Amino acid sequence: MKLLATLLVASAMLLGVSMASISSSYSYYRLPTALRPKKYDLRVLTHLENPEELRFEGNVKILIEVLENTKNITLHAKNLTIDEALITLKDTSSADKKNCISSTEVNSQHDFYVMQTCNELLAGEVYELSMPFSADLNRQLEGYYRSSYLDPVANVTRWLSITQFEPASARLAFPCFDEPNFKAPFVVTLGYHKKYTGLSNMPVKEIKNNDQIADYIWCEFLESVPMSTYLIAYSVNDFAHKPSTLPNSTLFRTWARPNAIDQCDYASGFGPKVLQYYEDLFGIKFPLPKIDQIAIPDFSAGAMENWGLVTYREIALLYSAAHSSLVDKQRVASIIAHELAHQWFGNLVTMKWWTDLWLNEGFATYVASLGVENINPEWHALEQESLGNLLTIFRRDALESSHPISRPIEMVSEISESFDQISYQKGSTVLRMMHMFLGDESFRAGLQKYLLKYSYGNAEQDNLWESLTEAAHKYRALPKSYDIKSIMDSWTLQTGYPIINVTRNYEQGTAKLTQERYLLNTQIARAARGGCWWVPLSYATQGEQDFNNTAPKAWMECDKNGGVLPKTITDLPGNDQWVIFNTQLSTLYKVNYDERNWKLLIETLTNGEFERIHVINRAQLIDDALYLAWTGEQDYEIAMRLVEYLQREREYLPWKSAFENLKRIKNIIRQTPNYEFFKRYMQKLIAPIYLHLNGLNDTFSGIEQQEQVLLKTMVGNWACQYQVEDCIEVAQSYYRAWRAEPKPDEKNPVPINLRPTVYCTSIRQGSDSDWQFLWTRYKNSNVAAEKRTILTSLGCSREVWLLQRYLELTFDPKEGIRRQDSMWAFQAIAYNEIGFHLAREYFMNNVDFIYKFYHPITKDMSRLLPPFSEQTFLESDFEDFKNFVTANRGSLKGLEQAIQQTLETMLTNVQWKQRNYRQLSRSIETMI
Ligand SMILES: *[C@@H]1O[C@H](CO)[C@@H](O)[C@H](O)[C@H]1NC(C)=O
Ligand SMILES: *[C@@H]1O[C@H](CO)[C@@H](O)[C@H](O)[C@H]1NC(C)=O
Ligand SMILES: *[C@@H]1O[C@H](CO)[C@@H](O)[C@H](O)[C@H]1NC(C)=O
Ligand SMILES: *[C@@H]1O[C@H](CO)[C@@H](O)[C@H](O)[C@H]1NC(C)=O
Ligand SMILES: *[C@@H]1O[C@H](CO)[C@@H](O)[C@H](O)[C@H]1NC(C)=O
Ligand SMILES: *[C@@H]1O[C@H](CO)[C@@H](O)[C@H](O)[C@H]1NC(C)=O
Ligand SMILES: [Zn+2]
Repeated sequence: MKLLATLLVASAMLLGVSMASISSSYSYYRLPTALRPKKYDLRVLTHLENPEELRFEGNVKILIEVLENTKNITLHAKNLTIDEALITLKDTSSADKKNCISSTEVNSQHDFYVMQTCNELLAGEVYELSMPFSADLNRQLEGYYRSSYLDPVANVTRWLSITQFEPASARLAFPCFDEPNFKAPFVVTLGYHKKYTGLSNMPVKEIKNNDQIADYIWCEFLESVPMSTYLIAYSVNDFAHKPSTLPNSTLFRTWARPNAIDQCDYASGFGPKVLQYYEDLFGIKFPLPKIDQIAIPDFSAGAMENWGLVTYREIALLYSAAHSSLVDKQRVASIIAHELAHQWFGNLVTMKWWTDLWLNEGFATYVASLGVENINPEWHALEQESLGNLLTIFRRDALESSHPISRPIEMVSEISESFDQISYQKGSTVLRMMHMFLGDESFRAGLQKYLLKYSYGNAEQDNLWESLTEAAHKYRALPKSYDIKSIMDSWTLQTGYPIINVTRNYEQGTAKLTQERYLLNTQIARAARGGCWWVPLSYATQGEQDFNNTAPKAWMECDKNGGVLPKTITDLPGNDQWVIFNTQLSTLYKVNYDERNWKLLIETLTNGEFERIHVINRAQLIDDALYLAWTGEQDYEIAMRLVEYLQREREYLPWKSAFENLKRIKNIIRQTPNYEFFKRYMQKLIAPIYLHLNGLNDTFSGIEQQEQVLLKTMVGNWACQYQVEDCIEVAQSYYRAWRAEPKPDEKNPVPINLRPTVYCTSIRQGSDSDWQFLWTRYKNSNVAAEKRTILTSLGCSREVWLLQRYLELTFDPKEGIRRQDSMWAFQAIAYNEIGFHLAREYFMNNVDFIYKFYHPITKDMSRLLPPFSEQTFLESDFEDFKNFVTANRGSLKGLEQAIQQTLETMLTNVQWKQRNYRQLSRSIETMI
């Protein structure tokens, strides 16, 4: 009898088993702790030959140790068909002690599958539980699912299978104790048609013929080290691969569909190098005998760090010299470095529970930037990523609806929502802060200690704090009276970050510092902001200009109750010199100075040797000034005067900081009559750098500094948006040249790094046939990065009918946009000032359909929201959206956090328009 798990109540009745236990009393969201899995033997047979019947069936044998007497075995299983008559239970110590399963029940709220046993299981005993299961290879991009690609030579669709288990989807593929602290070794055996390849975490042990099914084989893999279920992975596919093992190092292979194998060169070169760097950095060898990385055509996240079998979206692993820009290449490097860092942070040492997800993600994010920096120092990846993370978090964490890095988790949907900027970017930012205030030696020693101590086990953040405190005291990096826990709890357990108010006394050469939480919503009263953070204080003065030393000169402390203790700094210079706090932005806080200090800074920036201020601090000054003006703590006059110095700026990071901030203003003001002033201000700002970089001329091969490539890419994009100089004409002439090519899919004369700008500009200014041409290129392209660039550019049109058609085909699977990519198209339409209204209408009218389209990956749906939050600024539109949310809770389930952030951002825009619109218009009017 085969039954779906959810129908097992009926099956229990058929079997005549007692119904007494069916209404379960156990409703806690964690598994009981009476049992512990000691080992898994997992066999899975996968059928890929018939597209109408893509499915798998398997059997799992779990050795279970009994820690406390119990009458039931509770584990996770979801949407699996389980024939309960075939479940067996054996006491491994004595063959004649009989036990069995008397009844089963399903708790669908927590995905529990509960088996009551005939006799009590006694502490100390070890049982072998054997369970059969089967299901379809689903279409949902999680669990054990199907993916496909078109083989262009044979013109047929090829199917493959792949897993995605994090955070809680191993239970969709086989019954298991699906929590990260239940680690056990796994023996995986895959059955499939012999024309395919099977891959899993470990290398192949042996391959045997399948006696029952013709042309099928059984492929058994070596037993793994103890690991969490969410890191298990397997795939059956017909991919090609590229080996790239370094001498005397772990076997390393990179896999992709055969017609993309030539795009694997870059990843296969970079991967083993960064793996080796981590072995040195952590002082621990990679513990598995091999590592594979594989590009999956249908994939929801960016990549997944499965131990020994890392999976990626194509755009995150594949690189084509003919189609991928420098930005694309750096993305590949950074994601590989992130996933391989997880092999230690996450895989070897795992968080005890999802509350500390940030230990995985914050570390992998931070360590990845160290890895990329080590291998490509010319990219300045560490500076770039650090600033990028800070800019993101300054915004995100200034919302009242943000949350602490470490947060309680009780539901699977909450785990998914935790894979957010707070875990990744804020986690990484506070680790960088620690690295900078502890110094390299004690930071590394503390990490090594932690990794060694908890290898193959689980840890919480307090365990990390202990190891780091010991190392910090040993190397005298921290006063004996300080411990890492007190400092770091203020950063990981509290929401938000502080603004520090620096009030200088120029006669005495002192400054008084106070702190409070920084919030974008200005309606929240001072008294309600609260919060105190332990802040390492570093600063530079105009006289010394020492921006290299990031070691703290003093600390802002908090009292026992978390109250603020003001701090006075002495030995500051007199009234002719500025000071800048937070050298290299080592710590996540904003600074406001008194007016005199701001004026001194503006003087140096606009007339002095501004290059002597560290490039990250230049980015900081822009960011701080624009935020403070936004929230009304500073005058827009001061902020815009400061920003004007950019006419002299030739470095990437300050420009990036400026554009990210000015974009927020643009998104509002371009819908208002005063846009003219803003546009002219922007033209004046951008023209000098545009000309300095030779406009859109193809000068890339002559550029030595890689950051200048990024700068030119970014400036070109903004220059065309604001119609600076000859930007639009040059962009259009490149596009015309491409259209004139007889074989445009093979030959593209547009410089790779300028393609996003050239395509978007030409579509915006162009005709229907320009759009159709690009859409055809999309369909023909074999490179994920190129496809993404095109998807985004197609949204630049100003034709309502084209945008409407594009919206509809975005959500039509037959049209060739994969579900995982649909949000790029949607975002592009919705960020377009004309498309915005169409997209908003579409979203609000079709929210049920969109919810079902993405289900259960609500995270992807939440990516549709930022264009709405950033462009809504009228009170009435805000109210409309609020009512829409209230009326449609059911179709926004799992997006609660994203919705709150959206509403709060809209509210801050409404406030901005009311408070600042006139003031800003007036100040820039005098500057243009
Ligand atoms: C299963 O056993 C555990 C531990 O003995 C107990 O806490 C739990 O309530 C039981 N569950 C059910 C559904 O009986
Ligand atoms: C669970 O199974 C049902 C019935 O086969 C199917 O409709 C549903 O999509 C499945 N859900 C998941 C999450 O796989
Ligand atoms: C590929 O096959 C499809 C139908 O399966 C057909 O419509 C299409 O024309 C074929 N393409 C080529 C290039 O043969
Ligand atoms: C390879 O590594 C082993 C053990 O780490 C070492 O003894 C041996 O010298 C290395 N061989 C080469 C060629 O580096
Ligand atoms: C700071 O470090 C940079 C690069 O390491 C060096 O060129 C510069 O001279 C240093 N500046 C000071 C003031 O020590
Ligand atoms: C910050 O400093 C300014 C003077 O520069 C003062 O007016 C303001 O009240 C201070 N804010 C806080 C929160 O201390
Ligand atoms: Zn990660």
